Amino acid sequence: MLHCKDLCAYYKDIAALRGINLHVDRGEAVALIGVNGAGKTSLLKAISGVLAVTGAITFDGEDISHLSIEQRVRAGIAHVPEGRKIFPGLTVKENLLVGAHIRRSDGHLRSDMDRVYSLFPRLAERSTQLGWSLSGGEQQMLAIGRGLMARPKVLLLDEPSLGLAPRLAEEVYARIADIHGEGLTVLLVEQNTVLALSVASRGYVLENGQVVLEGSAAELGANDRVREAYLGHSAIAA
Ligand SMILES: Nc1ncnc2c1ncn2[C@@H]1O[C@H](COP(=O)(O)OP(=O)(O)O)[C@@H](O)[C@H]1O
Ligand SMILES: [Mg+2]
Repeated sequence: MLHCKDLCAYYKDIAALRGINLHVDRGEAVALIGVNGAGKTSLLKAISGVLAVTGAITFDGEDISHLSIEQRVRAGIAHVPEGRKIFPGLTVKENLLVGAHIRRSDGHLRSDMDRVYSLFPRLAERSTQLGWSLSGGEQQMLAIGRGLMARPKVLLLDEPSLGLAPRLAEEVYARIADIHGEGLTVLLVEQNTVLALSVASRGYVLENGQVVLEGSAAELGANDRVREAYLGHSAIAA
């Protein structure tokens, strides 16, 4: 469904992506793992069109490399950015409507919003509350809900667990698993490898803008390099 070929990106003279090749099949959940600065965010930005890159990106059989951000959203790519980026001065409901703005009025708005509210009941309770007044976990749920409102074919998630207490991070991941379970394709970025591999069936490890390892969740979880670098000593001891 999604193919990236030889993607390279620079910030001035810093190479953020250095020849990335990856693919995500329809219905898959795939994880991108790597430490801070590995290039994970840059890769998602390249796919959603926020960051200009060289190389080729195809989606649903079409070359999307030259499409604008909005055209890529219309094609079915929703990007839930690092740090949530919800609109603090808009209500929960208004933030969700922003996610739907690229859609033509297709009559599904109400049912899609109900779906988000049933997935995240806390958002329903807070639908008239302003974005800034939400907790970090609620903001993450809102950012995901906003992404879903575009009716995407693939959901790009950038560190959904970042800054959340473990219990909340697990709750967010349980909802991501639900969304994926309903058939949505997911590409997610995480430093928290354990959480990422709890949902993803396959993953790529990024270092210094390059893919250094790829494999099934089981293979990556058992890989010594991954365990040492990303799972920490407690996981190795366990
Ligand atoms: N706006 C920017 N300006 C300059 N360098 C950047 C910018 N954003 C990211 N970088 C650099 O690009 C590299 C990859 O960053 P990023 O994609 O954010 O990694 P990750 O999401 O894995 O932490 C890092 O070396 C980072 O310092
Ligand atoms: Mg990042």
